[in-house]
Amino acid sequence: MAIEPLAPARVGEGERSQGLSYQELLDTDTRTVPEVLRLQSARDLPVVRVPIERYVSREFHDLEVEKIWKKVWQFACREDELAEAGDHVVYDLADQSILIVRGDDGALRAFPNACLHRGRALKDRAGRSKALRCPFHGWTWSLDGRLQEVPCRWDFDHVDRDEHALKPLPVDTWGGFVFVNPDAAAAPLADHLGSLPRHFERWPLEKRYTEAHVARVMPCNWKVAQEAFMEAYHVVATHPQILHGIGDANSQYDAWDHFSRAITPNMTPSPHLKETPAEQEQLDAMMNRSLDAPPTVQVPEGMTARQILAQVSRMQLQGAVPSVTELSDAELADSFYYTVFPNFHPWGAYNRITYRFRPHGNDPHRSIMEVLYLAPYQGRKPEPAPVHWLDVDEPWTEAPELGSLAKVFSQDTFNMAPIQKGLRAARHTHVTLGRYQETKIRHFHCLLERYLEA
Ligand code: FES
Ligand SMILES: [Fe+2]
Repeated sequence: MAIEPLAPARVGEGERSQGLSYQELLDTDTRTVPEVLRLQSARDLPVVRVPIERYVSREFHDLEVEKIWKKVWQFACREDELAEAGDHVVYDLADQSILIVRGDDGALRAFPNACLHRGRALKDRAGRSKALRCPFHGWTWSLDGRLQEVPCRWDFDHVDRDEHALKPLPVDTWGGFVFVNPDAAAAPLADHLGSLPRHFERWPLEKRYTEAHVARVMPCNWKVAQEAFMEAYHVVATHPQILHGIGDANSQYDAWDHFSRAITPNMTPSPHLKETPAEQEQLDAMMNRSLDAPPTVQVPEGMTARQILAQVSRMQLQGAVPSVTELSDAELADSFYYTVFPNFHPWGAYNRITYRFRPHGNDPHRSIMEVLYLAPYQGRKPEPAPVHWLDVDEPWTEAPELGSLAKVFSQDTFNMAPIQKGLRAARHTHVTLGRYQETKIRHFHCLLERYLEA
């Protein structure tokens, strides 16, 4: 089941697509570009091919649960879902269930979601309660995990209160996200995130509210779903309607410790096009897929579509984002999509998107994909949107809160069942990955390998 190294890393001159490199595009910005966009990681990942078994076998799923999901820091919920004392969230993955609770002291705690009497899940869903009371026989713990009450205590004089306190699991926050780790001996979250917080200093995700949160059951393995959102290589075949306004093959890909990043420039023509489209065509292609689909904007003489898009975005963010006038065109126009191992995908700058992908129960052929829009706001922080669940046969367009991006997600989802079908039917043994544009996927599988070997 191991990945197979095919060739050493080698990305140099002549090995990238035609057209402006992302760094050259940054040189044309009307503002000072932040350092974080100038970063380029080392290119030392081996070129590998990935066993198909990783996407289709229950045995491999079980291995992932043991080696990854029981060991790794994972995004469980937004802090806003746990605003008041007694607020709790149930975070489920495969057979794991973790209860995250805001205590009377304001601290967040995570516990295995299992009663210490006869094991019932303590909570079935998110809510607010003064204590953690099991619905079966009524054993009750305080919000900080101390055993408070055992009905018919006389029958349980052998039950020691301290021994029957709920055992806390590591929990921590970053960027307004709550992370849990099922491994009580885990190293701190900060070690896992590494330099990621530095990347987001200019775009503080804790200062956002959840404007939309849609979860959909997907007809494929969680890695199949996730990997479709880790490269722009698929744009030419899957989203041909946006080629006029996207520098798909001119994207930049980087990978650091536990996270990777892709930057796809917008408002710059795809190198796949034979003729360079007019500035207006570039802008229209972009506007058709933006989150809010604003009315048609005309590109005036002497200006580029990229400059106009940035200007419109600056106006839209006025008031909600301090020093919006200093934001570079790049930060307002381009797509910065990060992946934190194993399944968390926050987007940089002001694009608002965050994705999460996880297995659906223990079925290697099903997964859950979530889309959160994290929007800046003015004044009082609005309440977070509740999760809107879509079943496997409900299209993204059933969630109008996703705006016109729902159509783009539908195009991506169109491939998912046929990918899973093809992988199950395949007689060949490995998936082949590109040397550069599939950097993020290779990085993910190299990390996966490290966890499997640990
Ligand atoms: S199983 Fe929880 S109180 Fe009995
Ligand atoms: Fe896509």
